[in-house]
Amino acid sequence: MIFEHISSGGCQSYLLGCEKTRAAIVIDPNLHQIDHYPFLAARHGLHIRYVLDTHTHADHFSAAREMGQKLNAGVVAHRLSPAPYAEFFLDDGEKLKVGDITLQTLHTPGHTRDSMCLVAEGHLFTGDTLLIGGAGRIDLPTGDPDALYDSLFHRVLTLDPALLIHPAHDYKGQGHSTLGDEIATNPRLQNRDRESFVAMMKGLDLELPAHLTEALRVNIHGGKPLFQLLAEASDRISFVSAEELSQEWGDAVLLDVRERDAFEAGHIPGAVNLPRGQLELQADRRLPDAARRIVVCCGTGEMAILAAATLRELGFVHTAALRDGLKAWQEKDFPLSRS
Ligand SMILES: [Fe+2]
Repeated sequence: MIFEHISSGGCQSYLLGCEKTRAAIVIDPNLHQIDHYPFLAARHGLHIRYVLDTHTHADHFSAAREMGQKLNAGVVAHRLSPAPYAEFFLDDGEKLKVGDITLQTLHTPGHTRDSMCLVAEGHLFTGDTLLIGGAGRIDLPTGDPDALYDSLFHRVLTLDPALLIHPAHDYKGQGHSTLGDEIATNPRLQNRDRESFVAMMKGLDLELPAHLTEALRVNIHGGKPLFQLLAEASDRISFVSAEELSQEWGDAVLLDVRERDAFEAGHIPGAVNLPRGQLELQADRRLPDAARRIVVCCGTGEMAILAAATLRELGFVHTAALRDGLKAWQEKDFPLSRS
């Protein structure tokens, strides 16, 4: 079996490939690495046939939906996964064949209701059920410490201790471990009675993930995170810097898309105000020449990127955005007008 471990911050994903048929699967793909998986697969002469999430992630963005669409790969999840873009659902004991590789499913609720572990050729992919030196938190949506106790002590820990452990998260860069090592040393596995395990897990008092709401929106409903919207919009427009804008903008319209209050409190001299909420509705009246050059600005640059991409879509083909917005303009001590 061809095996690649891809680390992205604390998030871990895995590419498994069949040497004979060249079919491959990516386990827990991360949106920030979306271009890296096909690159790795191509380097090994593999075709990614499946992408699989071990559970609904609450702290990062799954690339499963995007990869499924772009690569025509089957999106796999547990039967209880709410993801509307999943096509193949596994339940406890079921097998997934990827070429000659067989992945055996273990339903291991606790971290989330739809958590599963997968066993394949001496490897155990544990998602966030069992981490190296830890266990998945139980305080996020659908978490349940009692269920995690059962999943760990009555399911995972009964497997072959020689299995290599590959978790979905590893914040300390430990790489991999064996189940036997975890049984011997993992602090979360030393409280072997249910009551003390549950009390310990409930008492962890962990900080909530930074992008919890956004990650659940993306991973459960199949939407896009903000960084992806901005990246896609950025690909469709051009940019000008504050220095370039200060030197000349010719006959361009400098369009400030903030709300009127913010505009009146301070704007680039010569700018006209069209709040983003009015953009599509007022574009033809306020910008009658679609061929004219437009530079869009806002406070920090992000709203201008989205607004400029909208104008491009509307047919204003020479639209650019002021990079980093008025923040960059003010950092250079360029003048502001108030009105
Ligand atoms: Fe998780």
